[in-house]
Amino acid sequence: MTRLRVAVLASGRGSNLGALIEARARGALAVDFVLVASDRASATALDRARDAGIPTIALDPKAYADRPAYDRALFDEIAKVQPGLIVCAGYMRLISADAVGAWLGRMINIHPSLLPAYPGLHTHARALADGAPEHGVSVHFVTADLDAGPVIAQARLAVESVDTPERLAQRLLPLEHRLMVATVALFAAGRLALAGRGVSLDGALLPRPLDLNSKGTLE
Ligand code: GRF
Repeated sequence: MTRLRVAVLASGRGSNLGALIEARARGALAVDFVLVASDRASATALDRARDAGIPTIALDPKAYADRPAYDRALFDEIAKVQPGLIVCAGYMRLISADAVGAWLGRMINIHPSLLPAYPGLHTHARALADGAPEHGVSVHFVTADLDAGPVIAQARLAVESVDTPERLAQRLLPLEHRLMVATVALFAAGRLALAGRGVSLDGALLPRPLDLNSKGTLE
């Protein structure tokens, strides 16, 4: 069986990319990483990719006239490696509608909130300010609307009275990593698809996003 070819977009630290690389290395993720692309040449994610022998590119947005021009250049590079899945893992730029449209159903993003709550930035601080009893992380298909594509899977935790935005982010990170790996594994097994405004698993529309259980699997 041919393995899923995965390209990853990342702007910074790259710990989610690291989790994917580590899962593949221990045999828990049957994919091939064909490219890691970034809008920041100094992103640690690129170092992680190089260390793992994955090809990288960094394109500087300032070298392009506008967002569509940048995205055309970036996604042309991505198309050359023929990925079956593009994973946005801490990619901090908006993606233009044309690029999103070309990869609809083949591009996912991880977002640190229980979507549809708290799209956009500063999710942990906003959840705390609202007194939210729980918080979490979501993986969703990327559509033209920011952080609003159909949610595939989520991991959640109870907010504690001593949580700060930093503490919440730190507690959530291991869950993010497990959620990312479990979701990509499910996609790689050919079991997930975008179905209109929803998500299908094994051909059946999901009534709600999958949940990460304590064993690190999705149910
Ligand atoms: C994660 O919190 C992710 O959910 C968000 O950006 C952060 C990236 O972390 N979109 P890393 O670069 O994977 O360490």
